[in-house]
Amino acid sequence: MEIFHLSAECYPVAKVGGLADVVGALPKYLNQSGQYAKVVVPAYNNKFFQENEYDIVHQGQLKLGYFLFSYSIAKEKTNKLGFELYQIAIPELFDRPNVYSYEDDTERFLSFQIAFLNWLVETNQYPDILHCHDHHTGLIPFMVQHCFNYQHLRNTPTLLTIHNGQYQGWFGYDKLHYLPQFDLSKIGYLEWNGTINPLASAIKCAWKVTTVSPSYLDEISNHANGLENLLRWERPKSLGILNGIDTEVWNTKTDPLIAKNYTLKDFKKGKAENKAFLCSHFNLNPDKPLFTFIGRLVGEKGADLLPQICSVALHQHQGEINILILGSGDPNVEKELSGLQNFYHGNYNAYIGYNEKLAHILYAGADFLLMPSRVEPCGLNQMYALRYGTIPIVRRTGGLRDTVIDMGDGGFGICHNETSVFDVTHSISRAIVLFQDAKKFDAMRKTVQQIDHSWDKVATQYIEVYQSLKN
Ligand code: GLC
Repeated sequence: MEIFHLSAECYPVAKVGGLADVVGALPKYLNQSGQYAKVVVPAYNNKFFQENEYDIVHQGQLKLGYFLFSYSIAKEKTNKLGFELYQIAIPELFDRPNVYSYEDDTERFLSFQIAFLNWLVETNQYPDILHCHDHHTGLIPFMVQHCFNYQHLRNTPTLLTIHNGQYQGWFGYDKLHYLPQFDLSKIGYLEWNGTINPLASAIKCAWKVTTVSPSYLDEISNHANGLENLLRWERPKSLGILNGIDTEVWNTKTDPLIAKNYTLKDFKKGKAENKAFLCSHFNLNPDKPLFTFIGRLVGEKGADLLPQICSVALHQHQGEINILILGSGDPNVEKELSGLQNFYHGNYNAYIGYNEKLAHILYAGADFLLMPSRVEPCGLNQMYALRYGTIPIVRRTGGLRDTVIDMGDGGFGICHNETSVFDVTHSISRAIVLFQDAKKFDAMRKTVQQIDHSWDKVATQYIEVYQSLKN
């Protein structure tokens, strides 16, 4: 089957969060399973686009209301990512370094979607499936069904995957005329609560909706930033499919980014060397348990509580633990986390920023990973941690609930119910007790490295969905 994946992000082309990891991996594994999956993302003016070679395979124009933009389709020459990568260049809108957070994001992503559909129409392509990821590509299911220009794609099955239902891409009716002409009687498919809502529209129009974990699908029927009723209504066509991780990239035996490679046989030594590397660089104590947090410093991830969590835990367990934070986001949280360095020298440090290499070493060298997320549709970090023998400490929510079972319930991690300072510091205390029981700790570290979250298994589930839509 020929499947187009449409997304704002794709690792390593353009990454802000986990969406990129999924779109950069799933198509590769679909291809390895005999499908023909391609990826289409905008041509941002970033390192990847500058450093790789492309063929221009098509050029055209698109209308966005009264604006006229030229676009070109640039195909990466080598297919080295394991799939054909197409980047749509619309210089006025995407010739900028970042993926999001511009005032004209509505115009940018709407133009991206229109350019994509124009390209299919102008070159007479009839793919088998259009797989849209999140709200940035959420108007495609509506447009293929109801815009006059795209009638030949009308019977093409569309699939929406929700990676994060908090962001919906809302815009006002003053921009309705941006959409290519459509059957006005269908306007209801665009709207939710008085605005045009691309995510809601995709939930209504896509033939199938998936979320990135089964628990998240249950949760968004109750908490979905206003879309609860819609999601409940569309539940019969919805399905939760837990993400996988790219086990070729995340492989302790071959990972070129970590300080020392290791296998199941010598993981104790390997992890200790990675930990020693971190401790010497960040002035920490290698004999004490090392806790880490890796990710965006935003409320969804519970990061606003981190400064307090760290100071309470470091105070309660004076000199007995280390905490090392890697992340960026809310400037206030960044400042507080940096400031803590002055109080807990030798046991605490923070690297403010994004650093893929350091992230890998942290998964390899830390003992415990903290994920106190308020919302976590899937979460990949806990899966990376498991694979690298680091014990996750998670709040029971979304994909965290589906991937980590508390050690008290016969499982292999530490879980708590609330995103609160009390719950997290209590879990840290439980982790210290575990760390001190070397035999139990090592057995658990060994178990978690063997859990299979590879994409091979997950790709099969997506193929079944695609097939069900084609029949
Ligand atoms: C989003 C979600 C995260 C998920 C990722 C990939 O970033 O917040 O939980 O793992 O998408 O699906």
